[in-house]
Amino acid sequence: MTKRDEGRSDVEERGRPFPAPVPAAVATGSSEPAAVEIEGLTYAYPDGTEALSQVDLVIEQGESVAVIGPNGAGKSTLLLHLNGILRGGGGRVLIFGVPIEERTLRETRRRVGVVFQDPDDQLFLTTVFQDVAFGPANMGFDESEIATRVHEALEAVDMSEFGDRAAHHLSFGQKKRIATATVLSMHPDVLVLDEPSSNLDPRSRRKLVEILRDLPVTKVIVTHDLVYAYETCERVVILDAGRVVADGRAAEILSDAPLLERHGLELPFRPHVPATARPPAR
Ligand SMILES: Nc1ncnc2c1ncn2[C@@H]1O[C@H](COP(=O)(O)OP(=O)(O)OP(=O)(O)O)[C@@H](O)[C@H]1O
Ligand SMILES: [Mg+2]
Repeated sequence: MTKRDEGRSDVEERGRPFPAPVPAAVATGSSEPAAVEIEGLTYAYPDGTEALSQVDLVIEQGESVAVIGPNGAGKSTLLLHLNGILRGGGGRVLIFGVPIEERTLRETRRRVGVVFQDPDDQLFLTTVFQDVAFGPANMGFDESEIATRVHEALEAVDMSEFGDRAAHHLSFGQKKRIATATVLSMHPDVLVLDEPSSNLDPRSRRKLVEILRDLPVTKVIVTHDLVYAYETCERVVILDAGRVVADGRAAEILSDAPLLERHGLELPFRPHVPATARPPAR
């Protein structure tokens, strides 16, 4: 059991504030910085909507963390802070110990790849190949390295045949897969995915689960698909009304039906009824 597991908490349940994050080096006894360290993050949109309120979260290198919560909880807003797309609220975000600020933005975006909830926000060039090549090209790789990365990334999302197609002519699920490839091609150290499984057919969903499991990087995955969260992440954080309200092992959080229910979430399965308990067939 890790320090954080012991600290697993549900604010409402225990009536005390969620524990402040322990700095990575202290928590693990190592000198490795945490992949992501969020301290007192508060953010309101220009129209005054308060989307995040005093969020503290530490994600160690190599962890896979699912962020779940009801619509409007602030999940996407939180993810958009992880590579500095949104900034300027209260608190701070550190990536591998380096605070995100103007002078560190470029390096941050090299290390943290964010796949947006809406693929139309990610795909803007003429062909799928160009969209997936954009990141590696920007990083200064030569043509053969770019081609290799594009090929691998499209292969990973089962879209190898689509390089010459126009992304805006694809189905939503296909666009979602290409958007994921645009980030995979950058080989990020932290992979951040907003609803990666939405609109995927079962085979593509399964493939993405396998790809994500095999990738040896830190992962932060927002999803409404609790089975997907369980399949891809060992840790789950619940966000509600802009606050972290629970944080712990996936198996523990996802089997706590009352906790899930209090935050507008539910498991898709009814409890298993053993055959012997069922009424006899007529
Ligand atoms: N551009 C914006 N301008 C103003 N308010 C916004 C904007 N984007 C989001 N919000 C508001 O911020 C809050 C958090 O939104 P966010 O998109 O982060 O929620 P979410 O947890 O990702 O929800 P969902 O599950 O529906 O994707 C909501 O109240 C939302 O209405
Ligand atoms: Mg969202």
